[in-house]
Amino acid sequence: MTDYSWRGDFTNAELNALHAEGFGHKVLDDDWLAQVTQHSLGWVCARDDEGLAGFVNVPWDGGVHAFILDTLVTERVQHHGVGTRLVAIAAGQAKTAGCEWLHVDFEDHLRPFYFGSCGFTPTNAGLIALV
Ligand SMILES: CC(C)(COP(=O)(O)OP(=O)(O)OC[C@H]1O[C@@H](n2cnc3c(N)ncnc32)[C@H](O)[C@@H]1OP(=O)(O)O)[C@@H](O)C(=O)NCCC(=O)NCCS
Repeated sequence: MTDYSWRGDFTNAELNALHAEGFGHKVLDDDWLAQVTQHSLGWVCARDDEGLAGFVNVPWDGGVHAFILDTLVTERVQHHGVGTRLVAIAAGQAKTAGCEWLHVDFEDHLRPFYFGSCGFTPTNAGLIALV
């Protein structure tokens, strides 16, 4: 049983652990609560009886553009539709807030997820690594 909540409760420790697992780095001490409350339209938490199972961050421009960042599902529940549901809730909430566009960028291997499952369509986009 997984519960989904828009702007749901989470702790920095939970999200730092999920981020480290998902992106394969050491557990950091980032202040996610400050980051998302100050800079995001919202975020979606997926929670089951073992804790925070998934998360997606939805920053925006304050107008009609919202963005998907930090889509994460813990390994023990991957491939059960949790990621797709997180993104669908993010899209619905962004639309409710008046956004007209939801953006994402990702590596090639995630094309089946974002294009095949989440409903994004391909477009030209660009990225500059600043570090
Ligand atoms: C990407 C991620 C969020 C997907 O979460 P999930 O809950 O497993 O996704 P879903 O169950 O909704 O997947 C639906 C479909 O998308 C595709 N898909 C899901 N994860 C995929 C992956 N890692 N690579 C390629 N396709 C994937 C599959 O077609 C999948 O269907 P299937 O389970 O029948 O194979 C999860 O794998 C994850 O947290 N990865 C590590 C962090 C990461 O890379 N995040 C994305 C940052 S842009």
